[in-house]
Amino acid sequence: MYRLRCLPGYLSGRSNQTIRPSLAWFYNIMSTKNENWKLPSLESAKKSRNPISYQNYDLPEEFLGLGLGKKYYIRTYGCQANERDSESLAGILQQLGFQVTKKAEDSDLIVLNTCAVRKNAEDKVIGEIGALKKLKRENPNLLIAVCGCMAQEEEMVDLVLKKHRQVDLIFGTHNIDRLPWLLAACFNKQERIVEVFSDHSKVIEDLPVKRFKNHKAWINVAFGCDKFCTYCIVPYTRGRQRSRKAEEVLNEVKTCLDKGYKEVTLLGQNVNAYGKDFGYEGGFARLLSEVAKTGIARVRFVTSHPWDFSNELIETMKEYDNIMPYLHLPLQSGDDEILKKMGRRYTRAEYLSLFDRLKEAMPELAFSTDIIVGFPGESEEQFLNTLAVVDHCKFDNIFSFVYSPREKTPASYLVDDLDMAVKKERLKRLNDRFKPLALANAKKYLGQTLEVLVDGSSKNNPDVYSGYSPGNKVVNFSGDTSIQAGDLVKVKIERVKTFTLEGTVIE
Ligand code: 5AD
Ligand code: SF4
Repeated sequence: MYRLRCLPGYLSGRSNQTIRPSLAWFYNIMSTKNENWKLPSLESAKKSRNPISYQNYDLPEEFLGLGLGKKYYIRTYGCQANERDSESLAGILQQLGFQVTKKAEDSDLIVLNTCAVRKNAEDKVIGEIGALKKLKRENPNLLIAVCGCMAQEEEMVDLVLKKHRQVDLIFGTHNIDRLPWLLAACFNKQERIVEVFSDHSKVIEDLPVKRFKNHKAWINVAFGCDKFCTYCIVPYTRGRQRSRKAEEVLNEVKTCLDKGYKEVTLLGQNVNAYGKDFGYEGGFARLLSEVAKTGIARVRFVTSHPWDFSNELIETMKEYDNIMPYLHLPLQSGDDEILKKMGRRYTRAEYLSLFDRLKEAMPELAFSTDIIVGFPGESEEQFLNTLAVVDHCKFDNIFSFVYSPREKTPASYLVDDLDMAVKKERLKRLNDRFKPLALANAKKYLGQTLEVLVDGSSKNNPDVYSGYSPGNKVVNFSGDTSIQAGDLVKVKIERVKTFTLEGTVIE
């Protein structure tokens, strides 16, 4: 069912405008005056049980040229899934004739691709939407679009509609392929458009893509998530898990390989559950081995959920040299009771057992993890249990967060009476505890020669290059001027910091 909503000018003072019948039919647009008009709903996303439908993107010819003579600017917040979505948005816009610009103030269309995973991410976006008011005042023809996970939340859409009249278009994570239709409607009607499907379960293939890098590519293997960890909004904003067909994933990898890409990162909220939604025999381990067999220089994957991590996957990682020795394995908490309240489906002992098996199979494997501190009811003792796991695992990197209640998630209904000061202090203690361990870990690379995939010159110094080691460490190094982004070079490591290695090219 389509939920395309066109909001007449209660926003722009033109409340009498309605859509011409022919246009409404053409774009399948429903005006707010229609009795079926509603804000998006996380509740219906939660209940959605629609079967997955596979569709191909097919742009009618009349849309080509829609963006001719116009420039677009995309700002992306949040995770790699959003990064990859922005590459599809850019691909669609370029197909329509838009040209990219790096400056928001030069653009005719600004797209903010937003993240809803924590409140501070949302606050940042709302602040930046506010700052765009000035650009809109200077250029009333500027079109401002807000998409991504925040667009799936009724509260956010309501807030933007009421308080941020400079926003012309809001569309959801399931509406990316509808961008040409939505823009055409915006241009034709000069009204605000909101289209957010809350309960769709499509997989759209053949979307155009304008990758932001020429040597490493993000490749979706599955959209959405079925794990419903109690604190997490992602299953509602991105929907239930929908895996792509293996041949589509492989075709995308091969296309990248043919174009000279050196690295692919397979993306999913929980890659280890790949294929469970359509009964793919062999699961993610099989898909990963097929990708490795294409011969691409480097394969990575994020994110892994310990619950779905199979022994076959350990074997596959061990078997192929082009699968990089790096794993992001979110722990979230090291305490059994908190893990249970989080709905993580494993105990601390099970996490540690998986960790130890992986380390035993691949001693050189580097690990990073996600940890949430201050989950509702977390006691000092429970927090200490998390620190004990950190001591055991000596992660190479930890992404740590203070728990942030998210609308409609089960955890948001729990009593959360822990002081913010205590939560922040725990975050600091966690970081203080892990940094020396990560540094000690990094020291093992001193004197070693590592293969580095070059990203380009270092941000702070154009004479220094920067890239990533197989274990996902940033390596800053000096070398001759012929080095380019996308080169694989050998670097002798001469100095070690907590998060970066430094050295000189030897080949
Ligand atoms: N509060 C804090 N951190 C969260 N994450 C997800 N939801 C929340 C939340 N409500 C963290 C988890 C996840 C990472 C991507 O973001 O650690 O692994
Ligand atoms: Fe969120 Fe859990 Fe799914 Fe990760 S596995 S996206 S934390 S629900």
